[in-house]
Amino acid sequence: MTNIHDIGARALRLLPPERGHQAALWGLSNGFGPKGRPDQPAGLTQRLWGRAFENPIAISAGFDKNAVAIAGAMGLGVGFVEVGGVTPRAQTGNPRPRLFRLTADRAAINRLGFNNHGAEAIATRIEAYRNSGEAALDGSRPVGVNLAANSDSADPARDFEQLVDRFSPLADFLTIDISCPNSENGLVFLSPGPLEDLLGRLTALRDGKGLAKPPALLVKIAPDIENRELDILLEIIAAAGIDGITVCNTTTARPDTLTSAHRGERGGLSGKPLFARSTEMLRHVYQVTGGNIPLIGVGGVSSGADAYAKIRAGACLVQLYTAMIYNGPGLITRIKQELADLLAADGFTTLKNAVGSEHKSA
Ligand SMILES: Cc1cc2nc3c(=O)[nH]c(=O)nc-3n(C[C@H](O)[C@H](O)[C@H](O)COP(=O)(O)O)c2cc1C
Repeated sequence: MTNIHDIGARALRLLPPERGHQAALWGLSNGFGPKGRPDQPAGLTQRLWGRAFENPIAISAGFDKNAVAIAGAMGLGVGFVEVGGVTPRAQTGNPRPRLFRLTADRAAINRLGFNNHGAEAIATRIEAYRNSGEAALDGSRPVGVNLAANSDSADPARDFEQLVDRFSPLADFLTIDISCPNSENGLVFLSPGPLEDLLGRLTALRDGKGLAKPPALLVKIAPDIENRELDILLEIIAAAGIDGITVCNTTTARPDTLTSAHRGERGGLSGKPLFARSTEMLRHVYQVTGGNIPLIGVGGVSSGADAYAKIRAGACLVQLYTAMIYNGPGLITRIKQELADLLAADGFTTLKNAVGSEHKSA
């Protein structure tokens, strides 16, 4: 990949954060990203949920909320894509400004509040991508959809049902986001009763559709939760037969180390300051679930060493968002190469053997 795209990313950082993000997406969806997928180092492939993943690295939910740049993101060399968060009806989100760069801290704070074009428009775009010549014919490079309830919904569980119904035939995996700190209805399912009810309804709905290749159902959890409460939720998630857990969303915590002017803004903090907490949480979730549920590790990843730490702590797949703002799109290629080198240096011939390896050598 030429570093012209990284120079472009630097230029975008001169714009206000949300305008910079829109310009980056516009570029990716209009063919200004890299041409052709970059070569990939060996040893990064994996099969999960009956799907082939060319590599474990992706951009996390919230980057392409409206599914306008699936092919563009694939062109950056990611192993899969997660679009959304999508709500049943389109919504504008919270008043601006609502996205802040904390440059000195290599972090961001957002309180976007699920601004998105709504399920119908987004489903139509995913269908168009699936039917285009750009989707991999062998079904590798999976596409997931991140699901959320409308903030003014009187029945958020019903919202999730509508979304699972609409997206199950289109997606390789669906992420039930019960961890967004920026929406009225974002956190209602972080209590045991409502979570158990929700997951029972959604798995039954997905299974009842009789699809030849039903999507995996994942739950995305929040870092701002005590282990005692978390363990109860994990028991419910495991009992419901959920296929994967994404660890984790942004945090409402504000570590003392933050120095940027915007550190007092309301919303979810992401980026480097989230790395330690999210990795510790991932480690805990892997231990409690006995390594039996595939995990996606996300939070503060900005290098191959960070991705490798997530994998060793228990992640099968790794996502990142905030580091792309500071490092540009060439970061995906760099991380894959660094990760492949680290795996080889430690004698891992497959990625699978490295997943959770920290627990085995301890
Ligand atoms: C601007 C922005 C928007 C986001 N929107 C969503 C979203 O819609 N759904 C979701 O599950 N996570 C969302 N996230 C959280 C990210 O997917 C990710 O979990 C979090 O940013 C931590 O990763 P990072 O430190 O690499 O950014 C968003 C993050 C940011 C910065």
